[in-house]
Amino acid sequence: ALRFLYDCDPGADDALAMLLALGRRDAIEMIGVTCVAGNVGLAPCLNNARRILELVGRQDIPVYAGAARPIMASRGRVSIMHGSDGLAGSTLPPPVMELAGGHAANEISRIARAEGKLHICATGPLTNLALALILDPELPNFIEAITLMGGAAFCPGNTTPLGEFNFVVDPHAAAIVFEADIPITMLGLDVTRQALVSAEMIRRVQEIGTPIADEVAHLLINYGSKDPCLHDPSAIAWMLDRSIFTSVEAHVSILTEAGPAAGQVLAAVSERHLAGRQPNCTVVTGVDAQAFEDLFVEALHRYP
Ligand code: BDR
Ligand code: CA
Repeated sequence: ALRFLYDCDPGADDALAMLLALGRRDAIEMIGVTCVAGNVGLAPCLNNARRILELVGRQDIPVYAGAARPIMASRGRVSIMHGSDGLAGSTLPPPVMELAGGHAANEISRIARAEGKLHICATGPLTNLALALILDPELPNFIEAITLMGGAAFCPGNTTPLGEFNFVVDPHAAAIVFEADIPITMLGLDVTRQALVSAEMIRRVQEIGTPIADEVAHLLINYGSKDPCLHDPSAIAWMLDRSIFTSVEAHVSILTEAGPAAGQVLAAVSERHLAGRQPNCTVVTGVDAQAFEDLFVEALHRYP
C-alpha cells in the first residue's frame, strides 16, 4: 500500500476524505495526520481529526498539531460551510486519544526522512508544508509527491472571484510549496465542482447501515446542503484510482500580493505560456462522477 501523511483542516469534507482513505487501507496507508487551522481553528481541527480516527478505531495513527495561523496574516479566514464545530454539527463524542508530540512542520520532515520517499496528501491551507520546507531545505529530496486539494486553475474561485479557500487563506504557503520542485498533483475547483453529493449517493450510503456509514451520511447531508462539492475526498480518490480523472500538465504559480487576486492560480499549459519552463504540476480537470460515487460508496462497504 502507498504510505502517506495526511495534512488537513477537518472540516466536513476533510473528515469524509479521511473516512474514504481509511476504508481503503488495502491500497493506501495513512501513517499520520498533521492539522492546520483552516475551515475552523486549529483546536477544533485537532479534535475532529481524532474524532474521526476514533470512530473507525484507528487511534494508532498519530495526530500532530501544526500552524494555528497563516504565514503572513495574524488570523486566518475560516469557512462557514462546515458549521461552528467544523463537522456540520456531528454527534461524535469529543476525542479521548492524546495528540502526538512535536510540531507538524518538524514532524513532516522527520517522517519524510524516516520514510525515505514520502507521499503527502494535503487538503487544507498549505502552511504546515511551507514551514517544513523553510525549516528543512533538503526536504524535497525526501518527498515523492504531493497530492493536494486547492486552487482554481481555469474556473472561478469559491472564496473570492479568483481564489479557492485553501490558497486564499495562505497564498504565501501555497507559493512556497509550488516553488519547491516537488511533483504536485492539484485537484482544484476545476475538478471538485464535478464531484458532487447526490441524492443517490446519500441513499446508497444510508443503505449500508453501519455506524461509520451513518456518520458519513450525516456529513454528506449537512455539509452537502451548504457546499455540494466533495473537494477533499477527490484528492484521496485520485490516489486510489487516477484512471477516473483527466488532467493536464502545467506550470503553476500562485499570486501572493495582497488584494483581490491573492491566492489565484496562474496555470501555464501551452508552449507559448510555458515560455521555456517545465510543467511543475499535474492539474486535474475532470472526473467521471459516477465512477467517483461508486469508488466512494464501495470503500464504505469495506468497514466492518
Ligand atoms: C476547500 O476548502 C475547505 O473549505 C474544504 O475543506 C476544502 O479543502 C475547498 O475550497
Ligand atoms: Ca479541507
